[in-house]
Amino acid sequence: MTALSDTVEADRALKAKHRAIWALGDYPTVAAEIIPDLGVVLVEACGIGPGVRVLDVAAGSGNATIPAALTGASVVACDLTPELFDSGRERAALHGVEVEWHEADAEALPFADGEFDVVLSCVGVMFAPHHQAAADEMARVCRPGGTIGLVNWTPEGFVGQMFATMKPYASPPPPGAEPPPLWGDEDHVLSLLGERITDMGVRRQTVTVDHFADPGAFRDYFKSRYGPTVNAYRGIAEHPDRVEALDRDLAELAARHDRGIDTTVMDWEYLLFTARTRI
Ligand SMILES: C[S@@+](CC[C@H](N)C(=O)[O-])C[C@H]1O[C@@H](n2cnc3c(N)ncnc32)[C@H](O)[C@@H]1O
Repeated sequence: MTALSDTVEADRALKAKHRAIWALGDYPTVAAEIIPDLGVVLVEACGIGPGVRVLDVAAGSGNATIPAALTGASVVACDLTPELFDSGRERAALHGVEVEWHEADAEALPFADGEFDVVLSCVGVMFAPHHQAAADEMARVCRPGGTIGLVNWTPEGFVGQMFATMKPYASPPPPGAEPPPLWGDEDHVLSLLGERITDMGVRRQTVTVDHFADPGAFRDYFKSRYGPTVNAYRGIAEHPDRVEALDRDLAELAARHDRGIDTTVMDWEYLLFTARTRI
């Protein structure tokens, strides 16, 4: 095999692995129960309304797609993990909205240049391993003068810290794969989109999570439902001491962020980034 076909094959294997991870557990329930507000926040920040052509990149089960479609916009949802679309289709039908669903890698979008008025991603594109390639694709399919909108977990916030907590327990990423929470750093996003954007809006905000009775309940919920966490536990299943340590680390993380009195209440920080593409 040539060096080029080796690279293509390695990327295909990495994406297949990522798809399998996001299909683990029950991500649609996590999105619906824990972070439904994030999609709404992003749709409002992008000023989406009737007739606007929207692409939701790494849409999952439609956390931002459905609120966008509810405004009367024409919405295309794409994601690496089509296993999540059944739930998205059910939710779209329940809300009486039409959505087009496409299996697609954010680093190679199957859409034409300038096809959309708004290209957005809600804690989604950050998980594509090659940040520049994914940013280039989002900018390419957005029309000149259109809007790019992003919600990304910050490295310092709860979810950024959750990934840092799980890192010593998971197999290392292959060379060249960049860490997802970097997309929560405004300078990183600016460097990715560069000269192509103007009128940037950058805000660090939090979403309040009060779904869990206590830190252990948070840990158990993510351990069984959130793909990356389920995967981390799978990798150490033969080592009870490591399972016990990760159990302890995740519960301690939630306890450190807990400002609740009778139940656990946490504020999870994200970066809300909007910009217009230059004409
Ligand atoms: C945390 S979920 C977010 C889903 C949805 N946007 C939401 O707000 O609930 C991350 C999503 O990124 C998708 N994803 C990961 N890598 C991807 C890639 N290379 N291309 C497209 N989607 C990807 C996963 O399949 C998953 O649906």
